[in-house]
Amino acid sequence: MITPEELLKKAEDAMQGAYAPYSDFKVGAALLCKDGTVFTGCNIENSAFGVSNCAERTALFKAVSEGYMEFISIAIVGGKKGKIEDFCFPCGTCRQALSEFTDQTFKFYFKDGEDNIASYTFEEILPHSFDLL
Ligand code: THU
Repeated sequence: MITPEELLKKAEDAMQGAYAPYSDFKVGAALLCKDGTVFTGCNIENSAFGVSNCAERTALFKAVSEGYMEFISIAIVGGKKGKIEDFCFPCGTCRQALSEFTDQTFKFYFKDGEDNIASYTFEEILPHSFDLL
């Protein structure tokens, strides 16, 4: 199975595809499925700002649209002009979007500019998430 470091590298590669002419803040994500498949995503902005999509949801929607709905973890990196400096934590919308398809043991991996890795469970990132099912 892929290591957190390898998953973070895939997120960093995916960040290169970011379309972020408005914020200049590039984000990459790599979502690991239970069978080992990895879906990557980047942020895609729009001149109507609200239409923009985050990297995490790009990866999630790619996966779900291909029939993958069971996930183990996600690696996320980002930074101004694509330069990773601080841990890039997911926005609330992406946390909620991921909660539909994850359990509390799902892991988030982050990397900063000094190659420090941080990991959190879903429970730490979004406790008491909204759930209808
Ligand atoms: N962004 C992400 O891709 N993921 C997040 O979790 C937070 C923010 C993107 C959206 C926008 O294109 C840029 O970062 C600045 O907000």
